[in-house]
Amino acid sequence: MAQLWGGRFTKETDRLVYDFNASISFDQKLYQQDIRGSIAHVTMLGKQKILTEKETEDIIRVLNEILADVESGKLEVTSEYEDIHSFVEANLIGRLGDTGKKLHTGRSRNDQVALDMRMYVREEVVKSNTLLKELLETILTIMEDNLHTVMPGFTHLQKAQPITLAHHMGAYFEMFKRDSLRMEDIYRRMNYCPLGSGALAGTTYPLDREYTAELLGFYGPTLNSMDGVSDRDYCIEYLAALSTVMMHLSRFCEEIIIWNSNEYRFVEIDDAYSTGSSIMPQKKNPDIAELVRGKTGRVYGALMSLLTTMKGIPLAYNKDMQEDKELTFDAIDTVNHSLVLFHGMLATMKFCTENMERSASGGFTNATDAADYLVNHGVPFRDAHGIIGRIVLKCIEENKAIDDLTLTELQEFSPAFEQDVFEAISMETCVNKRLTIGAPGAEAMKTVIEKEREWLEKAVTEK
Ligand code: ARG
Repeated sequence: MAQLWGGRFTKETDRLVYDFNASISFDQKLYQQDIRGSIAHVTMLGKQKILTEKETEDIIRVLNEILADVESGKLEVTSEYEDIHSFVEANLIGRLGDTGKKLHTGRSRNDQVALDMRMYVREEVVKSNTLLKELLETILTIMEDNLHTVMPGFTHLQKAQPITLAHHMGAYFEMFKRDSLRMEDIYRRMNYCPLGSGALAGTTYPLDREYTAELLGFYGPTLNSMDGVSDRDYCIEYLAALSTVMMHLSRFCEEIIIWNSNEYRFVEIDDAYSTGSSIMPQKKNPDIAELVRGKTGRVYGALMSLLTTMKGIPLAYNKDMQEDKELTFDAIDTVNHSLVLFHGMLATMKFCTENMERSASGGFTNATDAADYLVNHGVPFRDAHGIIGRIVLKCIEENKAIDDLTLTELQEFSPAFEQDVFEAISMETCVNKRLTIGAPGAEAMKTVIEKEREWLEKAVTEK
């Protein structure tokens, strides 16, 4: 039971209390941020002459050795320490003696942990954004390759109007693009350094907080020390953004599971991303898509948990805040793994374009266009809607598509039909006449793809 405090206590901590209070089992994930933060702190203390040059150099050297030793596995983080901060400080003192005891000058574990967590989350926000952009690249390539791949668009999971695969993928492009922009937004708002906030009220030492912030790549210091130690908004914002990423991934997975079913056969998930059954030899299951869909709940759970933890905490630091870590770490790992796995599955998936095209022509997806045809030939829309409805009914009875009927049969419903109707209601025409920006027509899609390609290239080089 190694702890940093104890001077004012007359008894040993109860073992169960110690274990309940300790965070080393999970905050050891922060060892790198903790040491890098300490190095910046000591560098600043040296510059401000709060420590001598020799003390500064010695502490930095040993901290770097500790970092290297943890990284190589030579030094193991063990549960005999209360938390990662105690572990680093105890090892420093063990290797350097009394000079090591000066590391914590002008600092509290409250601003220390606030810094560690912020640095960790900041790196993960960048990682999530990179993974999102890699996924966006693949989606955009599928779009470019499938401008003319006709498929049915659905509402209520009923065939509605023909679209293209490029257009369907484009909807997901927009979702993940917003997710990526959210990551950038969070980064901009969170990138301020809480170190120097002390326990809650700053310190009496002449710290240069601007300098520490700069050393650690922050835009500047946080501007209120009470808020500095007790702000976890950036974790909540990140968890909210991650929950939205999972919601998007889960919707996409749901569609892929449907498309991959024996009934649809719009896609075939690659063998490397599928699993079998222990009893049914014929089975090839979309487990990865199901797992991503299934893991969405635990990410939402982490968001709800932290919101609830934070809602009743008076200023400034309270130990409740230690609960910010485990579920946040779990959510981050879950989403970043899900993005990698989903991306791999999508990139290797085969699109069965013939089945998509056949399905689009078989489901009266051109009924709206047939009604529009009549409108263009002088029939009021409400009448046209009724005429096409009756034609659809006949087709259902005879198991035919609208364009399977002869011109004479069509003219029995309305004399406005002419030979050019067949061209007007072909799948290709239905799609390519939809040319307003955002619609599936190939020319409209080309404009959109060009814009998105330009944005993505700029977004990739900026970060
Ligand atoms: N393990 C603590 C946490 O994660 C570190 C800060 C401890 N501060 C304190 N005053 N006990 O929040």
